[in-house]
Order: sequence, then C-alpha cells, then structure tokens
Amino acid sequence: ALAVGMFLAAPALAKDKIVVGFSQIGAESAWRVANTESITSEAAKRPNIELKFSDAQQKQENQIKAIRNFIAQGVDVIAFSPVVETGWTPVLKEAKRAGIPVILSDRAVDTEDDTLWVTFMGSDFVEEGRRSAKWLAENYDRLKNADKSSDVINVVELQGTVGSAPAIDRKTGFEEVMKNYPQFKVIKSQSGDFTRSKGKEVMEAFLKAEGAKIDVLYAHNDDMAIGAIQAIEEFGLKPGKDIIIVSIDAVRGAFEAMIEGKLNCTVECSPLLGPQLFDAVEDLMAGKTLPKRIVTNEGVFPQEVAAKELPNRKY
Ligand code: AHR
Repeated sequence: ALAVGMFLAAPALAKDKIVVGFSQIGAESAWRVANTESITSEAAKRPNIELKFSDAQQKQENQIKAIRNFIAQGVDVIAFSPVVETGWTPVLKEAKRAGIPVILSDRAVDTEDDTLWVTFMGSDFVEEGRRSAKWLAENYDRLKNADKSSDVINVVELQGTVGSAPAIDRKTGFEEVMKNYPQFKVIKSQSGDFTRSKGKEVMEAFLKAEGAKIDVLYAHNDDMAIGAIQAIEEFGLKPGKDIIIVSIDAVRGAFEAMIEGKLNCTVECSPLLGPQLFDAVEDLMAGKTLPKRIVTNEGVFPQEVAAKELPNRKY
C-alpha cells in the first residue's frame, strides 16, 4: 500500500513543483564553484523545487540563450548571476512579457527599468573595495615597517572580469578610500578575469615592468591573488612580505595562503546564496513582496586570525 501511495503521490508532487531556471556564469573561481554547490544542493533539499541549471562558460551570449530557453520552457522563476552589467534589457523584457519573474543573484545588471527584475541578492561589492582599502591603510606601516606619510607606496591592482559588477564596484570602493591616502599610488591596473591563470599571467607582466618597486597587490578575488603569489615567488620575491597582498572572497585557499604567510588579508564575499535564493523563490510564489535588495553579511579576515578561522570556513 505504501508503494502504491508513493507512486500515486509522485505525479501530484511533480505538478506542484516550482520550476526555477538558473543561469550560472561558469566555474572561473573557487567562489563560483562554491556558489554553484550552494544553489544545487539547496535545491536538492527542497522537494517543492525543480532546478534547471545552465552553465554559461563565462559568455554573456550563452546566458542570454539559457534565459530564452527558460522562457520557452515556461519556468516559474528565472534566476541568474550576470557575467557583465550591461546588455540585458531585451532578454529581461522578454521574460517580463512572458510573465516570468527574474531574480538577480550575486551580481547586478545596469538597466534603466528596474521593474525588469524582482530582487537583487548578494554582496555589496563597493563596500568590499572600501574594506580592502581601509585594511591596507590601517595595516601597511606595521607590515612593511615603513612610514606611509613620507613614502610613495606602489600598488598594483588585478581587476575582475571587464564590465562585471564586482570588478567595477571593487575598483570604485577601493579608490574612494584610497583618495584619503595619497601616498598609495596605483601604478598598474589590469583585468585577470577572476581566474588563477590570468592572475598569474598579469602579475608576471606587472613584475616584468615594475619589479621590486611593487609594494602592494590588491586583487579583486582570491583566485587571482593565489595565481599572483606564484608569479611573485617565481620572480624571487616574498609574497606577503616584500609585497603586501589583500584580496576578496575569503575562500579556503586564501586562508591556507595566509597561514603560510603569503597573503595578508582577505575580505569576505559569501557565495552561499542557495538558501536565500530558494527562500525568495518560495516567498515570491506564495505572493509575498520581496525587498528589492537583499545584502549578504560579511567580514574581514587578516592573516592573524587565519589558522583559527580555517576550520570554520564552509567554502
Ligand atoms: O561575483 C562574485 C565574484 O565572482 C567573486 O568575487 C569571484 O571570485 C567570482 O568569480
């Protein structure tokens, strides 16, 4: 009887499911891998959710295609993490015309019409840039044993993906605070596309051009910092000592690098958005109004706390 009951219950349950189409950017960083894991594992925990997951391999055109597919399939909700900020208006209008609500996860879009999406959940990237700069301004002297009031401090910056919200905002936030500390000069700034390999490659070019003149590396994510650490070591300098390094995300690899003394600080950007995302989906389908902006709570982890914090890290 139990088997028959289960069998009969299945189609009804399937019909009641909320179908969510999620378009992910790709797997460019440890952060992104953890974000995908958070979303897929949370969906699997919820019997009322059916997730259609699509990986865009870093390409906006693939994300647009995936969103159009979701519209054609008539999903209940579309969620996505936009690789870049611009170029979304036409496809978002198509979703709106089809009556499918859109949730922005992790990254924002730049559209004039904010009725094209229901809510944006994720970090405050500008604040992450500010936190990186504040930490640097407050700790540089102690770490380099230098007087920042008389020295010029040469900073190189590894930016994230060109045109992406975190690259634009982390640069803005960092510059906003650094304006108050004119001794810090950004002498090189280039995209490392949020990947380890590109971070290493661009840092090699920075070192070739500027060599031991570089005092600080500000990397828009930990993966690029980890790639750059390798480049610095191969160049014969000591990362974390000769070059002070601050980056963003707080992935496990960053804590390991801090424990080895090779990275000085990581500013948290949490990828664990799955529970929040599906809570929002369920609320939306229950007719509740969502706040337009849901900001993730995050901290700052300097090298001194790395060993104590590593066992608590979930990504
Ligand atoms: O959008 C969040 C950023 O994207 C993370 O900082 C980075 O690691 C990822 O690729």
